[in-house]
Amino acid sequence: MPIIFDDLLGRFHRYLAGVDSALVADAVARIGWDMPARPLEPRPLGCLGHLERIAELAPPAIRPLSQFVADHRGELRWGQTYTAADFGQAFIDNYGWLEVFGTRGHFVNDEVAAGVLILGPGIAYPDHHHIAEEIYIPLTGGTEWRMGEGGFHAREAGEIVHHASNVNHAMRTGREPLMALYIWRGGPLSQKSTIGGAGGQN
Ligand SMILES: [Fe+2]
Repeated sequence: MPIIFDDLLGRFHRYLAGVDSALVADAVARIGWDMPARPLEPRPLGCLGHLERIAELAPPAIRPLSQFVADHRGELRWGQTYTAADFGQAFIDNYGWLEVFGTRGHFVNDEVAAGVLILGPGIAYPDHHHIAEEIYIPLTGGTEWRMGEGGFHAREAGEIVHHASNVNHAMRTGREPLMALYIWRGGPLSQKSTIGGAGGQN
């Protein structure tokens, strides 16, 4: 396995280990970090063109991870769960995720999935929900986030956004792109989110 994947996992782990949050610390402590690698062919996506700006925007604590992802984008397996039929072509052209570990990512983990999500500027990710509990940490600021029946609130880089199982959530980016670190646990790790409608807590 090329060393870049070990480097990616190490940078991901080091960033998370420095986040000042009991929720994140508990999640990190429960992850077995000695995971087997999964050989995957690289897969680029249109949204990767936002990575330079994302790396520029990153605060110092985040930069070692975001700059590494930008530098090595072409060696990584980027994915999309939605199609243009879900949210339109502009969304698909500006959306993608990198699963660092999980049931389909660069490292094998059947208990927890984690990686980064990218959204370009001016993109709405409408209400959706899923069984897994989700922790998001925006790695760039300025995106507005909404949960349950609440309104949209701008979140800064490094804030913690916690979605309980089946609670609806949505995001909309402003003038800058978003990269957000995600952790999924406690549910099917490769499930496509249910779009719109009421989640279990709505
Ligand atoms: Fe989610």
